[in-house]
Amino acid sequence: MTKPISKYHLRCRECDTIIESMNAWFTHFQKCPSCGNKWVDVEYSRDNLDIKKLIESETKPASVFHYFDFLPLDDRKNIVTRGEGTIPVQRWTIFEDFAREHYGLNLKVSVYRNDINDGTNTFKDVAASVAASVLKENGVTQYAVASTGNIASAFAHYLAEAGISLAVFIPNDALRANEAEISSYGQRVFRVNGDYALAKKIAAEYSEKYKILLSGGNVDPMRVEAKKTMVWEWLRQTGELPDVYVQALSGGTGPIAIDKGIREIKGLGYPEKLPRFIMVQPSGCDPMTAGWKKAKAAGFPEGWKKDYPIYDNPITLIPTLATGNPATFPIIADLVHKSKGEIITFNEHKCLEVAHLIAYEKGVKIGPASTIAVGGFFEALKQGIFKEGESVLINIGESMNRAPEFVDGMIYTTKYVDTIDDCTPPNREEYREKLWAKFK
Ligand SMILES: Cc1ncc(COP(=O)(O)O)c(C=O)c1O
Ligand SMILES: [Zn+2]
Repeated sequence: MTKPISKYHLRCRECDTIIESMNAWFTHFQKCPSCGNKWVDVEYSRDNLDIKKLIESETKPASVFHYFDFLPLDDRKNIVTRGEGTIPVQRWTIFEDFAREHYGLNLKVSVYRNDINDGTNTFKDVAASVAASVLKENGVTQYAVASTGNIASAFAHYLAEAGISLAVFIPNDALRANEAEISSYGQRVFRVNGDYALAKKIAAEYSEKYKILLSGGNVDPMRVEAKKTMVWEWLRQTGELPDVYVQALSGGTGPIAIDKGIREIKGLGYPEKLPRFIMVQPSGCDPMTAGWKKAKAAGFPEGWKKDYPIYDNPITLIPTLATGNPATFPIIADLVHKSKGEIITFNEHKCLEVAHLIAYEKGVKIGPASTIAVGGFFEALKQGIFKEGESVLINIGESMNRAPEFVDGMIYTTKYVDTIDDCTPPNREEYREKLWAKFK
């Protein structure tokens, strides 16, 4: 009897060894059995012309599983979903007007609304739904993850739905809201007395001690395969890929996944070049920017991708982005370089000003990590990074629901009064000039 052709396999990026299934991958403890490398590509036996059909199909996707044929899951019955991944790309002309008025640049600017993603309102929801489904399919009942916050909340939510127990290791500065969310689904929180690097270390020891699978970080194939679908969604919704992609940067699953999504649609008649990646770090934790700047100033000398600083216990107002030891720098820097992009820093003390502006102009309350991406757009304008006529897509990665602590800072119109004499009718237009002035 011939063996049925399997839907997919994994291929080691280092030595080309084939790992036949996610089950085998888990059995090998998420490492290449030949060389120990953790970065693999998932390859599908199906003709990639079928991706084109999915991108161009008339039916509006119900979730990320619209792309089921190109996800490492065998049986649809294992799907765990909340309708994530069907979020809109929206044109926000406020940014275009600003660029034209103050920099004489004509840009086309859109945002990708992960803040309204079903699940936990972040761009970690697609990753967690695919991971929960794959883990369920493979009979996994215990799982562990180290996280600065959002990935933990999303995993806690989706794994709970799949009946999988989760241990989450968070750093001591992780937001209380994330801790509460993880806990509310009945998943265990281990808040470590130290930074994200320590959370990762203890999580790895826990995984080793109990032989419990640990989420594979930024190159985890479940996360990458889920997030690659954003490229296909942009094509489905707008018929094009942006010239420039702006995202807040922590470990960099975003660009890794975009690269994968684009590699899979080669030869189908879509654009094949990477968008220029403008990756933005918060000023309180920006080791990748430091590594990038140094390399750029020296003309990208031999070995530059291995030369980056490590910040122990970074102090940042954006704990979600607090990757002080960016082990993925060689991968991310390579992609940014290939894309002719930049890694830049946004002054995190201006985050609330960004949030005020967006809530005022668009009625959308964006979360702290999203303000870094939007702030990065303004910073990139200042640095002259955009080119005339480019289309720009900004990833609004999370909603303000993710950070109730942030909400307090949204108060700026209150007047304290004793009598009616203190109360005069407001004119909201008065605020507009002041809000924009912060970015000129
Ligand atoms: C809202 C948001 N934006 C951006 C990031 C950074 O994502 P990455 O660097 O993994 O692509 C995160 C990571 O936690 C996030 O939660
Ligand atoms: Zn290998």
